[in-house]
Amino acid sequence: MSVHRLAAVAALLTGFAAAPAFAQEIELPKQNWSFDGPFGTFDKAAAQRGFQIYKDVCSNCHSMKQVYYRNLSGIGLSDAQIKAIAATVDVPTIGDDGQPTERKGLPADHFKSPYPNERAARAAQNGALPPDQSVIEKAREGGADYIFALLTGYTDPPAGVKMGDGMNYNKYFPGHQIAMAAPLSDGRVDYIDGTKPTLEQEARDVTTFLAYVANPEMEERKRTGIRVVLFLAMLSGLTYVVKRQVWSDVDH
Ligand code: HEC
Repeated sequence: MSVHRLAAVAALLTGFAAAPAFAQEIELPKQNWSFDGPFGTFDKAAAQRGFQIYKDVCSNCHSMKQVYYRNLSGIGLSDAQIKAIAATVDVPTIGDDGQPTERKGLPADHFKSPYPNERAARAAQNGALPPDQSVIEKAREGGADYIFALLTGYTDPPAGVKMGDGMNYNKYFPGHQIAMAAPLSDGRVDYIDGTKPTLEQEARDVTTFLAYVANPEMEERKRTGIRVVLFLAMLSGLTYVVKRQVWSDVDH
């Protein structure tokens, strides 16, 4: 009797323990990121390669409207480099004659979007909308680990899985059917700095860049945090010394 009851309790417990598996949670492999932890900073070389990936690959479909070219100083690009990058795009403006025209981009301009509006984006993408990437690293559960997993998680669909029209199988996308075809592969870009462009390297670099644009103030925030903790530690020490001084006559 009691054995049965135990078994029932165990079944209940294991049932509960297994519950998250039903909630379609997909386990994300945990990566090590330079920007993890209280002392973490962005690996600038990786973020620069990541910008190259964004520029050469992702920006053909994804906008990054909240980011300005001048923000690239945060990944270590010089003013001259930023000016040159901004100047490669044409920005709509109004000419002296009052007619719409174009001028060269400036560091103070937003990143140029690939499509003029959402409808145009969907029309070009088989009805799917490539989400804006300004804060996507923060907007998706799992953050950097999720984006890395997504970019490296394309496989053939398991036997028996029926794929929708134009859909691609991805181990980590919720529901596993994603409208975006695998954007990265070995040798997708030629890195300016000579790094070998493997799929993992490209995914890691572009994820680092996406994490930077979503959290441009992160390094400053951590530095302030460390200063505050040091200050509080010093203050505690000082308070203790003062207390000993003040009470030195009365203490015993
Ligand atoms: C050819 C167009 C195209 C390119 C190039 C492209 N994407 Fe996408 N991407 C899409 C579309 C379309 C979706 C929406 C997919 C969906 O909802 O099924 C998407 C969705 C995403 C998502 C969101 C997934 C989610 O959880 O909703 C991420 C992250 C992403 N892309 C990252 C990237 C990165 C990083 C690059 C560059 C390496 C890139 N994409 C290049 C078309 C593209």
